[in-house]
Amino acid sequence: MKVVTIERWPEAQPRDYRSDLEAGNIVFVPRTPFAFPKESRDFLRSLEFGGGAIHKNIAYRTQSDKVTGIDAGAAEAKRLHDVMRSYSQNVVRFVSELLPQYAAQWKLDYASFRPVEEHGRDLPLNKRNDLIHTDAFPSRPTKGDLILRVFTNIHPEKKRVWITADPFRIVAEKYACDAGLTNIAESVDSTAGRLKNASARLLQSVGVPVVPRSAYDSFMLHFHEYLKRNTDFQANTRKYEFEFPPDSTWMCFTDVVPHSVKAGQHAVEQTFIISRVSLADPSSAPLAILEQICGKPLAA
Ligand SMILES: [Fe+2]
Repeated sequence: MKVVTIERWPEAQPRDYRSDLEAGNIVFVPRTPFAFPKESRDFLRSLEFGGGAIHKNIAYRTQSDKVTGIDAGAAEAKRLHDVMRSYSQNVVRFVSELLPQYAAQWKLDYASFRPVEEHGRDLPLNKRNDLIHTDAFPSRPTKGDLILRVFTNIHPEKKRVWITADPFRIVAEKYACDAGLTNIAESVDSTAGRLKNASARLLQSVGVPVVPRSAYDSFMLHFHEYLKRNTDFQANTRKYEFEFPPDSTWMCFTDVVPHSVKAGQHAVEQTFIISRVSLADPSSAPLAILEQICGKPLAA
């Protein structure tokens, strides 16, 4: 896997970056190519996360135009909302121009601010960012669509350092069966599994916060933790280290690229759910790879 650099934006010759991303590469822009004023970056870095009104997980929900992770009455709440919304809008505009084929069918997910130094964080295993993993969202199953995340390093001096591994196809071919792919495929498709999902849909329709999951989503959620727990994978998989300097922006499919964060502080991120129908090569989607491995439909 490699980094594909966009030296200048807009580019004189527009290029289709879908194949680069779908192959498990990172698209990197050394200088953030959209407006992100210094005052906004300074404001985000000035927030104090001392267990008061501002929490460590700040998210901007694009659909409802709301910020979570800060008490509504906090003095910084309105400014934070303005800064996160503006970041989200600007990054969405940039990625729409860069990847118009994805933009035609994508779903906007959350934007988030990551204020904590990643090196040496003390977190429970399934939340640790320093262990290599692929992403899956417990509360927002994708049903086989892909998770594209765009990051901007707003720390004035520190690089953000990632360790990645070979893309999903290579990792899945080695580990998916050991992780229980066949059992998950069969259990979600069993009578008990169908009943469980039918009752989850019913409860969801009356407002109970339960999440019906396809076999694909169940597996991806499990695989996230399986990889973190797998000491052989963590120690012996082929690794690649990338450094993202201050003011750079980069993106990848975080369910295709196994990744971990070794160090860095103060990053902002926007997530897009990319329809697998809009891929340049739909057979490169993790769903297609897993269905090929187990021979069963996983997102029916
Ligand atoms: Fe991740």
